[in-house]
Amino acid sequence: MSENHSDTPVVIHRHAYRPPDWLVPTIALDFALDPQKTRVKARLQVKRNGDHNRPLKLDGNNQKLLAFSVDGQDAQSQVKQEKEGLVIALGGEAHTIETEVEISPESNSQLMGLYASSGLLCTQCEAEGFRRITYFPDRPDILSRYTVRMEADEKAFPVLLSNGNLTLEGKSENGRHFALWNDPFPKPCYLFALVAGNLAAYRDEFITQSGRKVALAIWVRPDDINKTHHAMNALKMAMAWDEKVYGREYDLDQFNIVAVDDFNFGAMENKSLNIFNSRYILADPDTATDADYDAIAGVVAHEYFHNWSGNRVTCRDWFQLSLKEGFTVFRDQSFSADLGSPAVKRIEDVRSLRAAQFPEDAGPLAHPIQPDSYIEISNFYTATVYNKGAEIIRMMHQLLGAEKFRKGTDLYFERHDGEAATCENFVAAMEEASGVDLTDFRHWYHQAGTPELKASLKWDGATKTATLTLSQKTAATPSQPEKQPVVLPVAIALIGKQTGKNLIGEQLLTLTKDSESYRFENLAEEPLLSINRHFSAPVTVENQVSPEDLAFLSANDDDPFARYEAMQQLMLDFMVARVRGEQVDPKTVINAVEKTLTNKDLDNAFIAEAVILPSENMVGEKLDIVDPKRIAEIRDDLRKMLGQTLEKLWQQAYQSCERPSYQYTPEAVGARRLKNVALSYLAAGELADAPSIAWLQFEKADNMTDRRGALDVLVNGFSPEREKALTAFYERYKGNALVIDKWFAVQAFSTRPDVIENVKKLAKHPDFTLKNPNRARALIGSFAHNARAFHDLSGEGYRFVTDMVIALDKINSQTAARMIAPFGRWQRYGSDRAEMMQNALKRILSTPDLSRDVFEQASKSLL
Ligand code: ARG
Ligand code: ZN
Repeated sequence: MSENHSDTPVVIHRHAYRPPDWLVPTIALDFALDPQKTRVKARLQVKRNGDHNRPLKLDGNNQKLLAFSVDGQDAQSQVKQEKEGLVIALGGEAHTIETEVEISPESNSQLMGLYASSGLLCTQCEAEGFRRITYFPDRPDILSRYTVRMEADEKAFPVLLSNGNLTLEGKSENGRHFALWNDPFPKPCYLFALVAGNLAAYRDEFITQSGRKVALAIWVRPDDINKTHHAMNALKMAMAWDEKVYGREYDLDQFNIVAVDDFNFGAMENKSLNIFNSRYILADPDTATDADYDAIAGVVAHEYFHNWSGNRVTCRDWFQLSLKEGFTVFRDQSFSADLGSPAVKRIEDVRSLRAAQFPEDAGPLAHPIQPDSYIEISNFYTATVYNKGAEIIRMMHQLLGAEKFRKGTDLYFERHDGEAATCENFVAAMEEASGVDLTDFRHWYHQAGTPELKASLKWDGATKTATLTLSQKTAATPSQPEKQPVVLPVAIALIGKQTGKNLIGEQLLTLTKDSESYRFENLAEEPLLSINRHFSAPVTVENQVSPEDLAFLSANDDDPFARYEAMQQLMLDFMVARVRGEQVDPKTVINAVEKTLTNKDLDNAFIAEAVILPSENMVGEKLDIVDPKRIAEIRDDLRKMLGQTLEKLWQQAYQSCERPSYQYTPEAVGARRLKNVALSYLAAGELADAPSIAWLQFEKADNMTDRRGALDVLVNGFSPEREKALTAFYERYKGNALVIDKWFAVQAFSTRPDVIENVKKLAKHPDFTLKNPNRARALIGSFAHNARAFHDLSGEGYRFVTDMVIALDKINSQTAARMIAPFGRWQRYGSDRAEMMQNALKRILSTPDLSRDVFEQASKSLL
């Protein structure tokens, strides 16, 4: 969008919501499917909504209108074709509108609407893809009953799927066949889905709590059928969990999942026909890591849970996105926690919140979980709306307690079933069902920025009293200079400085004002503060604690999450001090790591999490000016020290975690995790035999976690084993797209100084393509998050990503827009880098015919 661009993009405002002028109670679709030219006929029953004489507006783009009629009469001459739709004046209260359009799935590289992916035809409609399939009022508060007829060549597309129930199938002419689907539940058009292709089903069934049998199927390429078992298990567990924890039962006789290779994000909750990025379905030990297994279970559950939180109760408009996403992320997080170790799950969730959401909230793209405005809604499927949204639901869960929270969700589902609801509806139901006043809590929905919580604990030995003062402050964010205090549920405990005992149990303090003090009397001994236990509030904590006290807490706190936090704080304080040039002694950090490693009461999975250093980006967030090179040096240095000083312990941990053969149990997963962390410390210690240990592990691995763990380590070094392993890995897995993605990503994440040259070479590799989002993200997305390489002072990293964003925008603007955020942090860097980053954004903005997606992200990032 160049400066003289005439059509400045339209900004959509939250307060501008108006109910629809026309409703569409039913729609009948008829698809004549063909990769090059698909014809879509639509018959809409439309009904005037309220007393007005405004025309009917149908959204549509990227399609050729072939026919248009009203109540059976050709109306092509009356209908006004606008750039993004059709407008027609209608006289009566109800009419039948019929359209016929032509679209081309094969040339749809945006992967929104109907598109082709490795021989399949499939759809993605959320948020505004339906308008690329047919003319329709594309907004989530219009709920319609769908009947779908689809017809295609029987050889190329033997399987024909859509939402709801299959009511008829049969042969038609010229080797074609058809299927008729009928979805009894009215739904918004973003939940419409269709798939046609050569697919095989892995089938199972689930008996609901009321005794109904549901036929389950996961549809994949026939070769992949053996990689669907884990996803199927996760689905059945999720179905049972939602009944048990939320009382929510599945409502149709079929539930289908389809895996596709080209997909813009993780997965999509289309009614009874979930469509997934194949990376969140396909798994076997040889090709998927333990982390992949976890992610698959989480995403399968997430999409299934949407059947209630999203589909039965949907969103009134896209400013309510967090209504379904925040709540559903909270639900999938709780599910995964119940399945495995709650503490480790919480650590992982908080780590990703800090890695993705905190920076977003501190930069130019900061927005509340209910944004005030947008140019392109696709840009608001963010860590804020999803993950901070989930934290906000979690806080309500804490403030109300599990039982009242459940009463609240029961009321919410009962009251809004079959409706398009708002975030306010959710909070109101919580409030009414529980009797807890949530007036002030609502600020969370409209205020951006991560609050900073300051804590100070004063001890009076004479009266054996401790006084805790908590205060909060949220920094200004774009268009929100003033901030109000928010409601913070802060779980605390006091840990005896001598005995390490919890002196008061866990207490939930609710800070509602700027500042407040709390007294604790008759304490048996001087306490240390255990704060924000299990990360009860999504804040940063400022709390002056000595390294010795942090080390003590990391060994003694009775909340595992708090123990992890104390260790992280200890490591972070040390690295920040070193970056600032202060002389600090690493002994306390080393001893604390040693203690954790040798603590027989801890399980391997927890130990592994606890001994990993905070990321380079987390160190950067603590500094006024970020110098990625210096941070990387300091962090590498600490890793090296830990690797060398504790060499024996890493070796012991490594050996004790070896298992005779692969198993998928929580115990085995934890052991693999610690084993690979130990390996990475051995390598960081630059021990002479580290590459050969890694190579041996690589060679004899009977699972992807170990193979990948070894490769992660080798790829950072200069040993001959590095090339051997990369070549062997490629040869073994060529043709397996999901694993080759890992091959690209591993190299893009390398800490070697020549990573940029290598990444540029990889961009020319025959297996590289910008057309597949997974592949593009594996190389470019990974590289843009490799701080030391991306921010190299030569500017080569910036140049490479800029070139790629510009090229990708022509193909897939949503995916391109997601790669811009790292440039937006320019204000945090020294002038040399800041200037280059701004110039990169300017170069993007000066590209002709820029998409709305990229324009919005780049222009906002420059402010
Ligand atoms: N609703 C889907 C999910 O979270 C994601 C859809 C993302 N859409 C988008 N335009 N980014 O399960
Ligand atoms: Zn979702």
